[in-house]
Amino acid sequence: MGDAGRSESGYDVGAVRARFPALRAGAAHFDGPGGSQVPDAVADAVAATLVSPLANRGRVTAAERAADEIVLAARAAMGDLLNADPGGIVFGRSMTALTFAMARTLAATWRPGDEVIVTRLDHDANIRPWCLAAEEVGAVVRWAEFTPRTAELTVADVAQQLSSRTRLVAVTGASNLLGTRPPVDLIAAAAHERGALVFVDGVHLTAHTPVDVAALGADLYACSPYKFLGPHCGVLAAAPALLETLSPPKLLPSPDAVPERFELGTLPYELLAGTTAAVDFLAGIAAPDAGTRRERLTASLAAVERHEDRLRRRIEEGLAALPDVVVHSRAAHRTPTLLLSFRGRGPDACQDAYRFLAERGVNAPAGTFYALEASRRLGFGTAGALRVGLAPYTDDGDVDRLLDALAAFLDGVRPRDEGDLPVSIG
Ligand SMILES: Cc1ncc(COP(=O)(O)O)c(C=O)c1O
Repeated sequence: MGDAGRSESGYDVGAVRARFPALRAGAAHFDGPGGSQVPDAVADAVAATLVSPLANRGRVTAAERAADEIVLAARAAMGDLLNADPGGIVFGRSMTALTFAMARTLAATWRPGDEVIVTRLDHDANIRPWCLAAEEVGAVVRWAEFTPRTAELTVADVAQQLSSRTRLVAVTGASNLLGTRPPVDLIAAAAHERGALVFVDGVHLTAHTPVDVAALGADLYACSPYKFLGPHCGVLAAAPALLETLSPPKLLPSPDAVPERFELGTLPYELLAGTTAAVDFLAGIAAPDAGTRRERLTASLAAVERHEDRLRRRIEEGLAALPDVVVHSRAAHRTPTLLLSFRGRGPDACQDAYRFLAERGVNAPAGTFYALEASRRLGFGTAGALRVGLAPYTDDGDVDRLLDALAAFLDGVRPRDEGDLPVSIG
């Protein structure tokens, strides 16, 4: 992207924003953790694929070759994004679908009394598939608890659940509710000492930082392109040698090769082309044209991270000046995702704030965001709280609008201890 408009940090958010047609509708999007907006290049790649000759993967007709090349290019792109072997990149409908399938496949290798560890911090997609799979084979589920006051999940929290029977540790790379980034590398090292596999939910993490699955110690790493500017599909990365040891249920005539063995039915070629375009877009978002795509991705995502962290600090400073806002995202190492509630403003305050902000063109939803266990542990039950998430296209103007709208919301809501119920808004 051009040099004009670059901020002191060298990140040209204006040039980034110009590539997102959806932003022209005018909303300030703090809903990126639920799904990011998409740049023109991704939409173009999806559309171009759908209108060009395409058949099932093969090497005979041009249409077959086009499908084959799209798949191989997408595996290479995800390999670069995650520093993973393209031969171990599996595509699927969603992270949830891939995790359910992998949980069943791995559970087929477990014995009654074997153990799996899940964490209370995780999205349910990295909890329930393991619980259900464990139940089917008589394995035991052990829970690693995080500390609500600090929002931290420590290596000790997980390590104390490990035993010689642990077969798998499922842990998030970053919490989509609180932003907490647990020490996955240390957790993985402790798990590996006991001979357990490590499954990392990278859905929230991948959008916010350069990821290196090898450095994280993840044996299996799942993510979703629609959280990092791409289309709606899921990705699982693992070493091909590990995948070779596993036997997922499959159709008789479908390929037995890795990674195809894990991909059920026909792949969504247009979404894979969009995924490659998203990775290429990320590589170019804040890096010079020189270098390998992996090098440009690392530089770009580091720049995205600095940009988002600066805006997060601005939001935190602004929130500190607002009465009765409680910020629950307190972990030392975290993504720019803030969970908020309102002290003394009644049980519906987060939902009211969500609607109030939406009416002012500020999209910051309230809920559990499927991190149901974490929400319950924080005391928010099934209602959850208000989540403010940043994305590469978030700018200072968005932050101003958020803080102004929250201030107006708080002005309009009488504190609970001064009256009976919150004044209804709008
Ligand atoms: C941290 C995290 N894990 C898993 C998921 C589920 O991903 P998918 O929608 O691809 O199944 C989400 C979706 O919000 C998420 O934020």
